[in-house]
Amino acid sequence: MSTLLHIDSSPLYGRSVSRELTAAFVTQWKASHLDGRVIDRDLNATAMPPINAEWVGAVYTPEQARTPQQRKLLSLSDSLLAELEQADAYGEKGPKGLITGKKATFIIATGGIYDAQTQMASFNFVEPYLRSVFGFLGVTDATFLTAGGTSVLNQGHDRNAFLAPHRQAVQTHAQTFQGGHA
Ligand SMILES: Cc1cc2nc3c(=O)[nH]c(=O)nc-3n(C[C@H](O)[C@H](O)[C@H](O)COP(=O)(O)O)c2cc1C
Repeated sequence: MSTLLHIDSSPLYGRSVSRELTAAFVTQWKASHLDGRVIDRDLNATAMPPINAEWVGAVYTPEQARTPQQRKLLSLSDSLLAELEQADAYGEKGPKGLITGKKATFIIATGGIYDAQTQMASFNFVEPYLRSVFGFLGVTDATFLTAGGTSVLNQGHDRNAFLAPHRQAVQTHAQTFQGGHA
């Protein structure tokens, strides 16, 4: 059974382009994976406590020795990791990505356009960053579907016309997408 981890982060909810596209992805993925399971994680609705001295102290305390307070402090990151890992096996020696055998699809909306051949390409910090971080974790099979130039929607551009090709790309990818997590 395949499991899709569906993560949203946009704070714009009903106006969000990426949320609309990830929803289209999930709908199509479910239709193509009838026995699939979807885990939803809304990062905008998940209060992330800062990583402070107590948190680091708890991480470096052996699991059996942790106080109830330390366990509570780590419970959110434990849940987030469990969502990402599910049934993964662990390697013994680091540094080696432990989240292996998974595919990731990043559906991104940006106000500007940062495509490789454009003048703004060097300002695209999102894709290289996500590739590096997920690659470090072991997720090297990553697809980026980017809806660039959403700022035109604030200037009266038709939303459906703007979204149509991106929705199509997302649906096509969801249909052909095989394997574990996205
Ligand atoms: C606080 C804020 C900061 C933003 N900064 C940038 C930016 O630096 N570059 C850019 O291209 N778009 C920027 N945008 C525009 C967003 O990328 C754009 O609204 C995009 O569609 C957001 O994704 P969403 O529609 O899924 O919420 C910003 C939007 C907000 C609300």
